[in-house]
Amino acid sequence: MRGFYSRKIHSLLGIIPLGGFFLEHMLTNFAAVEGGASGFTDSVLWLNSLPLVFFLELFGIWLPLLYHGVYGLYIAYQSKPNLNRYNLERNWRYTLQRVSGVITFVFIVWHVFETRFQVALGNVEHEELGSVMHDIVTQPLLLAVYVIGILAACFHFSNGLWSFLISWGITVGPRSQRVSSILCLGLFVLVSFMFLLSLVTFRDSEFQATASALQSLRTFI
Ligand code: HEM
Repeated sequence: MRGFYSRKIHSLLGIIPLGGFFLEHMLTNFAAVEGGASGFTDSVLWLNSLPLVFFLELFGIWLPLLYHGVYGLYIAYQSKPNLNRYNLERNWRYTLQRVSGVITFVFIVWHVFETRFQVALGNVEHEELGSVMHDIVTQPLLLAVYVIGILAACFHFSNGLWSFLISWGITVGPRSQRVSSILCLGLFVLVSFMFLLSLVTFRDSEFQATASALQSLRTFI
């Protein structure tokens, strides 16, 4: 039983609340595709106007992410892949879940440092986040790092959901596991597409224009 409950909490947090937050983050970014720079800023401001936003972030994102991320690194460090002996789909899933977890961890630390952490330090306003993203994704090397980070996170979430459904006894037989495998693959394609489309949209000069407009406004005030 040792470690059973810590593993179960780790697994649950991957879906509730982290999976929910991941989908919400995808929709906020997608507001850039649908409504351009102003649509994205409205979406960010709306989120930050929610009541008790500090506690929502603390208990809905930061603490679960800390637990799932750090304990996840420990699980990944301890694991023993069997790819050479049994070249089965499940062994690939097992290994890729851990590899994508480690990539996601490094990516999230960097991404949060560049965005949310700068807002917390007072170096960047919420309204400027679109232009911060614009500056990042117009540099080819950083764009490539973002694409890799996003694909790793999308895979980790979708494959994680497939494995969660098995470990919590929701998909028990081979047929239900095959169906959920197809659905989770579809989810991977959908979330990757939506995140990547938002990323490409941030390259639009409209997002740079918001930054210049804000800067002129500040100088004027
Ligand atoms: C911060 C870096 C992260 C690391 C290092 C990490 C690591 C891991 C590891 C090693 C596992 C496999 C656990 C096992 O099979 O026993 C796992 C599972 C999982 N992770 Fe993460 N993860 C991270 C972030 C995330 C995020 C942001 C999400 C949500 C989008 C997430 C969702 C999941 C899900 C749903 C599972 C499957 C749980 C299960 O099999 O029951 N992870 N993670």
